[in-house]
Amino acid sequence: MEYATSSAPLSELEVDCAVIGVTPAGPLPGSGPLGEAATSELARMIEARTIDTRHAKVQLLPLPKGQPVQHVLAVGLGGKPLSPAEFRKACEAAGKALRDRHCARVVNLLAHAEVTDRAEAWKVRQVLLGFDAGAYRYVATKKKPSEAGPGTESVLIHSSEAQAEALREASAIARGMALARELGNLPPNICTPEHLAVQAREIADRYSSVSVEILDRQEMEELGMGALLAVASGSRNEPRLIILRHQGTGSDDAPYALVGKGITFDTGGISIKPRQGMEEMKYDMCGGAGVFGAFLSCAELNLPINVVAASPAVENMPDGAACRPADVVTTLSGQTVEILNTDAEGRLILCDTLTYVQRYQPRTIIDTATLTGACVVALGQHASGLMTPDDALADELLSAGEAIHDRAWRLPLWDEYQEQLDTPYADFSNLGGMPAGAITAGCFLARFCEDARWAHLDVAGSAWIGGTRDGATGRPAGILAQYLIDRAGG
Ligand code: BES
Ligand code: MN
Ligand code: ZN
Repeated sequence: MEYATSSAPLSELEVDCAVIGVTPAGPLPGSGPLGEAATSELARMIEARTIDTRHAKVQLLPLPKGQPVQHVLAVGLGGKPLSPAEFRKACEAAGKALRDRHCARVVNLLAHAEVTDRAEAWKVRQVLLGFDAGAYRYVATKKKPSEAGPGTESVLIHSSEAQAEALREASAIARGMALARELGNLPPNICTPEHLAVQAREIADRYSSVSVEILDRQEMEELGMGALLAVASGSRNEPRLIILRHQGTGSDDAPYALVGKGITFDTGGISIKPRQGMEEMKYDMCGGAGVFGAFLSCAELNLPINVVAASPAVENMPDGAACRPADVVTTLSGQTVEILNTDAEGRLILCDTLTYVQRYQPRTIIDTATLTGACVVALGQHASGLMTPDDALADELLSAGEAIHDRAWRLPLWDEYQEQLDTPYADFSNLGGMPAGAITAGCFLARFCEDARWAHLDVAGSAWIGGTRDGATGRPAGILAQYLIDRAGG
């Protein structure tokens, strides 16, 4: 999808459809560019209640000939100024309503809506990101890709001031989120570790600032990644450790490191999962996909920082060669781990990757993973779980999440939780028991990052919406991209 901004009257734009916010008081004042006749016709329909103005209700209305556009998509905004979350929802509803239609060129006037505590640049970003997410449809493995209309090709975002910078950043973030969504939705027989490696190579081919390195099983053995390889040992799909680097400053400035869990399918291994809902474990690589997405945005914007994005891509299967509960493995850090549950595999592949990226002496390390069902119980789908011992880093991530509306909420990582990992048979185990399952997973990872500025984002609840089509959300590519943009100075 192509996006641009404009402040011209609609009569000067060649578009098929205008997306307009409607409230019980009438069409938004900003719909002025629609022209007087159409505006008063809309006002009459709102008065007659032919148009539903309740929040996020949408209606596609044909306009009589002679008007500057043939169709209006009326998006209900309710009677009050919107919260940021309500505004984002209305923007997504607009995208969703048009994805089955034949409106190729759209002008979107939602940025004229009133949103509490948010300036126009923020609204323009959300109009773009919300529309892009709403208009997305998974088609990669369908014989007939389009069930209905071809959807939208271009969107002009109408604003009172030029918003070039907001548009540029939001377009780059939208592309990153689209990549993360698409990789998340792909089936696990296609989206294998090697498939993810190929995606990374393609990103490296596209940008001169980017290089890629991919480690195979043998190279990981030579390094001593005993935890990662224990998870990989049950699968015929060879593991890959994928490392993308963006050189945005000429010098050898310390990079920002991102690490994303890339379990391409999580059966649980020998501690096998129940059959109900196991298909959702194709999404268990969404941390890795989110990291690739944020990395893509960063490369697209050519941010003046250095970035390392690493994803251990591994499939967790039961097999004669699989690891078992009670196995003790030696991690790359030298610490030993008793694998008490082979389904707590995410932390095992992440810990060796976290140790590995420290060779780049990164400024900060942020890892992200669909790590625990406990995080879904704690926070649901709206917030990712943020854990870090570093208060300043926590604040940076929380505010990046607010800014792009890919929000996180902090959970404590107090030392007291660490003892839940105690075992007589190794330095510690990979299992913390039922209480505070998201936090004890974070505690496990913390043991590999003691000398680094590090944060962990559990996206088990936010990376996909269960039981829906096109389930992957593209998160956490948004918050990670915004974090990098902020570090690059705005
Ligand atoms: N990928 C799962 C976490 C998960 C489960 C995410 C359900 C979203 C929905 C992870 O590998 C896992 O299996 N975690 C276990 C950990 C437990 C064995 C300590 C879990 O959450 O049950
Ligand atoms: Mn698991
Ligand atoms: Zn998993």
